[in-house]
Amino acid sequence: MKKILIATEKPFAAKAIDEIKKIAEQKNYEIILLEKYTDKTQLINAVANVDAMIIRSDKATKEVIEAAKNLKIIVRAGAGYDNIDLDAATNNNIVAMNTPGQNSNAVAELAIGMMIMAARNFYNGKPGTELKNKTLGIHAYGNVGRLVGNLAKGFGMKIYAFDPFLKKEDIQKDGTIAVETVEELYEKSQYISLHIPANEHTKQSINYNLLNLMPKGATLINTARKEVINENDIIKLMEDRNDFKYVSDIAPDNKDVLAEKFDNRYFFTPKKMGAQTAEANINAGIAAINQIINFFEKDDRTFQVNK
Ligand code: 3PG
Repeated sequence: MKKILIATEKPFAAKAIDEIKKIAEQKNYEIILLEKYTDKTQLINAVANVDAMIIRSDKATKEVIEAAKNLKIIVRAGAGYDNIDLDAATNNNIVAMNTPGQNSNAVAELAIGMMIMAARNFYNGKPGTELKNKTLGIHAYGNVGRLVGNLAKGFGMKIYAFDPFLKKEDIQKDGTIAVETVEELYEKSQYISLHIPANEHTKQSINYNLLNLMPKGATLINTARKEVINENDIIKLMEDRNDFKYVSDIAPDNKDVLAEKFDNRYFFTPKKMGAQTAEANINAGIAAINQIINFFEKDDRTFQVNK
């Protein structure tokens, strides 16, 4: 019987685990659970003799991968796979996959919730502003970006998007305005919602010069990755511009400085909350277990990311 480890420092909802177990048992796979672990040695020990692994933002480092002698497949139940050492996976003949789209709605709803929270001054009792008739720039128009744009249209916002990997027509068919350059996006948008992955091209790319193009009363919403922000720049920008607000799903490294200096202009979640809904856990968890079974039984590699 093949063993599948679910290693989640931030656990799935109980219902998602039940559903995953049900599917695995029907097909004769054994599920091993490692939840809320506090040290990487626990993960290293747990992977020792499993055939497959489901993770969330858990770090599948070279060390973890090399400790997993029987491992054939890692599925990141979610979109971003910057937490997997893809070279190590490839060098050890391990297939790495994600489950794109499965948790997007949860992240998109959180982005909208954070926009409202910022517009209403973090619910501090002072008069805020409305989203209606404001401009929203979607930086990367993938599964989450598209959903954020479509939800924001319901609030009467004007939506712009920049995505160098998409054709203009694919963006415009939603009624979203596709801009030519990233600078144009920031110039036009009172709100920016970030949906870029963290990779060698994007890390620290959201910097002073770009953010300073935003009009007065600007808000940056980051439900992507903290690594894409240049943290020193954002402090300098918020010092120079007292109209600028920043909301982030997950605490940045410089959270203490931000919290101390920019009370009521800054908010962060204590843990990454975007995909933390029962629905997202169930969708991504079920997709992950099915992808593992289809890989073992049909050699289906549809969502492989280390090709
Ligand atoms: C993702 O990349 O899918 C999201 O950032 C969610 O990450 P999480 O599963 O760790 O909540």
